[in-house]
Amino acid sequence: MEQLTLPKDFFFGAAMSGPQTEGEWKSGGKLENLWDLWSNLELDAFHNRVGSYGGNDFTRRHNEDFQIFKDLGLTSFRTSIQWSRLLDEDGNVNPEGEKYYHELFADAAASGLECFVNLYHFDMPAYLFRRGGWENREVVEAYANYAAKAFELFGKEIRCWFTFNEPIVEPDQRYQNGVWYPYLHNFNRAKVVQYNISVAHSLAVAAYRRAKAAGLMREDSRIGLINCFTPPYTRENPSEADLEAVRMTDGINNRWWLDLVTKGELPADVLDSLASRGVELPIRPGDAEILAQGKVDWLGCNYYHPERVQAPSREVDESGCPVFAEPYVWPEAKMNESRGWEIYPKGIYDFGMKLKNEYPELEFFVSENGMGVEHEWDFRDAETGVIQDDYRIEFVREHLAWIARAIADGANLVGYHYWAVVDNWSWSNAFKNRYGFVEVDLEDGYKRRLKKSANWLREVTKTHTLTVEEGK
Ligand code: BG6
Repeated sequence: MEQLTLPKDFFFGAAMSGPQTEGEWKSGGKLENLWDLWSNLELDAFHNRVGSYGGNDFTRRHNEDFQIFKDLGLTSFRTSIQWSRLLDEDGNVNPEGEKYYHELFADAAASGLECFVNLYHFDMPAYLFRRGGWENREVVEAYANYAAKAFELFGKEIRCWFTFNEPIVEPDQRYQNGVWYPYLHNFNRAKVVQYNISVAHSLAVAAYRRAKAAGLMREDSRIGLINCFTPPYTRENPSEADLEAVRMTDGINNRWWLDLVTKGELPADVLDSLASRGVELPIRPGDAEILAQGKVDWLGCNYYHPERVQAPSREVDESGCPVFAEPYVWPEAKMNESRGWEIYPKGIYDFGMKLKNEYPELEFFVSENGMGVEHEWDFRDAETGVIQDDYRIEFVREHLAWIARAIADGANLVGYHYWAVVDNWSWSNAFKNRYGFVEVDLEDGYKRRLKKSANWLREVTKTHTLTVEEGK
């Protein structure tokens, strides 16, 4: 067995988002967001027909959740402000929305928890989506206005800010792979969205720096970006074409964002490859200067599974989208069958080493990591009623072990937020896969109940030590 230690100042916390927890979807002046729009349009698209409306009842129970976080030894949590709650259709502040977040942040502080605030978690206000969403440059400007207002209103309360969570996901899920509403299969539109989100991020960072210079922000505040990162892997003894698939996957998913947040530019080789396949980005004169302002103070890395790719067998798919890579199924892959995601804890270590080698100045934390499991009640102990989620203990232990090894080998990795400490609503999967250390009982008014893993976690946050099988 191997004993591993995490540094004393390494922090533990909870990752969550406004649209997946808050509920209260149309009270307090909140406008419809894209999830509410989709739920209203097509409830059948959601597991068990559970739409966006209820979250996990966080609004009514947040003080109870804060006590749970404290009890488990967590010192921080991340949530997101919902754009559709904070501003009205004219881009002015909704006073009830403002009050909502002031109270939430004050309650967090009173509980001794630090709240990290993200500004966007896949939750475009519906009226802006109807105007073209991220494809429309006016919506990009509207986001910059929203970000500036958030800095002005909460700048003295919040230290850690993030512009976006996983900006790669909406282009993929909504515009390219047709998984989420509006179910498009259009590579060009997906890359337009990716580009415009990059501009929006940079405008928000610029607004943040202006607000800070004007004395509106806490002196110790910082801004970052959160994305899902994994170094792409390929087969053993790869061909040139496999390596080319790795280059473009790494380019679009990782380097695009990493170059933006460290160099203030987008990777030229990726832009060239996109152009050579006919992709037209809506680049405007002056954009280079805007992107140059996109550099951040630190980074959040969400890590659930590795990306394995190989050379594509075709140049374009049935929808006419260019194909740069195809999935490679590693014969030794261990799967989380509920979610269909490979479990590969060493990916965190490899990403840490990638950053150390390619972006050495960039500090980061693991901003999401977790295991969603279906039918967890099958694991409930008949006597105590406690869910015996040993698989989750193993999952987190092995990921923390690779984090400890990455730190020992020089990664600038400073903390860990688990997704989601309390079960929450997972987009179209709703409550199908449960992630929590804490169960939410939907049959009993969203009642919270600790799972076995919660007691394990409490020990780890206390001791900062882990015992794992050698190399696991
Ligand atoms: C991340 C997102 O991609 O993964 C979360 O930031 C999401 O919003 C989490 O909930 C887990 O994925 P899913 O689809 O199982 O909820």
